[in-house]
Amino acid sequence: MRKRVTKAIFPVAGLGTRFLPATKSVPKEIMTLVDRPLVQYAIDEARAAGIKEFIFITSRGKSALEDYFDNAPQLEAELRRKGKEDLLEILKSTNMDSGEIAYMRQHKPLGLGHAVWCARRFIANEPFAVILPDDVIAAEKPCLQQMVEAFDETGGNMVAAMDVPEAATKSYGILDIKEDMGRIVSTKGMVEKPAPGSAPSNLAVIGRYILTPTVLQKLNRKQAGAGGEIQLTDAIDAARADGEEVYGYRFQGQRFDCGSKAGFLQATVAFALARDDLRDDLWNYITDMVHADKAAQ
Ligand code: G1P
Repeated sequence: MRKRVTKAIFPVAGLGTRFLPATKSVPKEIMTLVDRPLVQYAIDEARAAGIKEFIFITSRGKSALEDYFDNAPQLEAELRRKGKEDLLEILKSTNMDSGEIAYMRQHKPLGLGHAVWCARRFIANEPFAVILPDDVIAAEKPCLQQMVEAFDETGGNMVAAMDVPEAATKSYGILDIKEDMGRIVSTKGMVEKPAPGSAPSNLAVIGRYILTPTVLQKLNRKQAGAGGEIQLTDAIDAARADGEEVYGYRFQGQRFDCGSKAGFLQATVAFALARDDLRDDLWNYITDMVHADKAAQ
């Protein structure tokens, strides 16, 4: 029987400069798609996959995240007094039990690999998940759950994967495919942000990982890679070079790059259109705009 994946690391230490001025005082992960912060989507996805312990790698200026997951006794009392059961129910999904969530600060922005390494003392000899909340994935079965089910069959290391256009490969970790089995591919290498024209494939890593503790050992070496940063991609590939398997998993679902403004807006529209209380109004607005635009041409 394989060890279950019960811990997930959420690297949220980034400055979010692409969303300035908002991120001057609001952590990017608290920014909302409709009315739920990015980080809530990540937590819900983790829970659905069976995660029981949530480890946040934060930095200065991110304390709003801790408040978000804390109980809010005054607010709850007020809502209860007013009989707002529906709102109390919504708040429930934001509360974490004591000991279920941990925060660790990354003191220097040395890269994603370094952020994950900061969580090493929380991880024993067990596989663990990493979720990058910037990558929001709308899916019938949440992406990490799909991966956990696949991982139960394969073991090894597993990264979420998506085919991207050639021109986009320079923005991602890219897999060097050994065998393509459709939903799952085995790999013989992995390159972080390859120079244009040098990508080993078009299959990009998206921010969901199930990793072995070997990856943490590899991160101990603190070797800088692409962009002068300590890269998670390099540590995973080093575990592969040592004989572990690394699989890419082509998930079912739509991924939004909420690290970019365009991706964030697309996600906002998609999630709003998926809501019964917003769909009709928003759809009418969009179609009116399209008609007005066409009429003006
Ligand atoms: C990170 C990873 C990269 C991965 C990407 C997915 O890059 O380093 O391998 O493809 O997330 O979103 P970042 O976008 O943080 O530069």
